Amino acid sequence: MSATAAQEGIPKPRLLRFWETTLGKKAVMAATGAILALFVLAHLIGNLQIFLGPDQFNGYARALRHLPELVWPVRVLLLISVLLHIWSSIELAVVKSEARPAGYRRWKPAGSAYASRTMYWSGPIVAAFVAYHLMQFTFGVGGTPYNRLDPYGNVISGFRVPAVSLFYIFAMALLCLHLRHGLWSLFQTLGFYHPRHTPRIHRAAWLIALFIFFGFISIPVAVMLGVIPPVL
Ligand code: HEM
Repeated sequence: MSATAAQEGIPKPRLLRFWETTLGKKAVMAATGAILALFVLAHLIGNLQIFLGPDQFNGYARALRHLPELVWPVRVLLLISVLLHIWSSIELAVVKSEARPAGYRRWKPAGSAYASRTMYWSGPIVAAFVAYHLMQFTFGVGGTPYNRLDPYGNVISGFRVPAVSLFYIFAMALLCLHLRHGLWSLFQTLGFYHPRHTPRIHRAAWLIALFIFFGFISIPVAVMLGVIPPVL
């Protein structure tokens, strides 16, 4: 019968021991969430170039494709971050449910507990959105016209379908809620918790999340209103 490392007296690596604590899981969640939020912000800034016309937007997409030494490490980092983010969220949910006192059924959640509970359904919906988004704009199998050499045209023809635009707007609203609470938790995990600063941190989290929400939805809204025209 094989003995475990602990039984054999072999000490576990420090990182593994840290991961096994609630604080360790929260730190992993915060760090990976920060990486994903930074990507979202960078992606938004890149996407807003669509308002500068097809040459600018397609030129930007082409430039990125010619930088595999940047794009591939970022993709690998994003994939690892998404997996660790989901894994730590599941582990934390298990820790929480084990710590729940008996007679919990009638308990009504207060504000912040309600916000943190919304993370467990907004997160999977945002993940489902990203899966559809990749199918649509990266792999070209999202059911809307696709030309690998024309990301501008792909975005316009995608958002001219009202159901697609509405789905994006709905997903962006959930992303905004998810980010708002995530940023707030990130600050808390980092130890920025002080009665004097708390309202400012709340405001900053809201402002960043709303900037991301309005920034992203401006694109489907502009396409539907004809502000960003198709190339004829
Ligand atoms: C209006 C909103 C958005 C537009 C117009 C948009 C546009 C695009 C386009 C055109 C691509 C393909 C780029 C290419 O292959 O050249 C892309 C890729 C991608 N988008 Fe978005 N995007 C939006 C929102 C989002 C959001 C909110 C997320 C994440 C939560 C996201 C995550 C990604 C990812 C992960 C990729 C793949 C990047 C890669 O190829 O490595 N996008 N997006």
